[in-house]
Amino acid sequence: MTSPIEKCRLIDLPKITDPRGNLTFIEGGNHVPFDISRVYYLYDVPGGSERGGHAHKGLHQLIIAMSGSFDVLLDDGAGKRRFHLNRSYYGLYVCPMIWRELDNFSSGSVCLVLASNIYEESDYYRDYNEFIESRERK
Ligand code: TYD
Repeated sequence: MTSPIEKCRLIDLPKITDPRGNLTFIEGGNHVPFDISRVYYLYDVPGGSERGGHAHKGLHQLIIAMSGSFDVLLDDGAGKRRFHLNRSYYGLYVCPMIWRELDNFSSGSVCLVLASNIYEESDYYRDYNEFIESRERK
């Protein structure tokens, strides 16, 4: 069986290069393996801040460094992977049941997230031990 973390990957988004400025677009179900229900973004992140620190039960997400850079640590309880995001044409696909932590934000960075569902607190694991235990029960 494929472990969840092996399904997480960097997606190379379409890029229309143009001397007037480049353009990238994302179509739900086409460039990302889910339909997009929600968009949110992190900005004005103070130096040294950490975000994330949770897992989702059913949510699929694509994380993009729209501006600047930051690191994303993914952990499915069996393995960990760290990604450094610093291009607005790369998206990190994160499938359900992945604990994630975001840190090392550069000044002025903007983290855009596309999500497969609206916000539901009941979809979160906010306690790491509870996340690991639920994973072991499956
Ligand atoms: P959270 O997902 O914990 O942020 P992060 O993973 O970036 O550290 O969300 C922080 C707060 O914002 C929390 O109180 C829930 C709220 N929130 C919404 O109301 N809607 C949303 O779409 C998101 C992502 C968060």
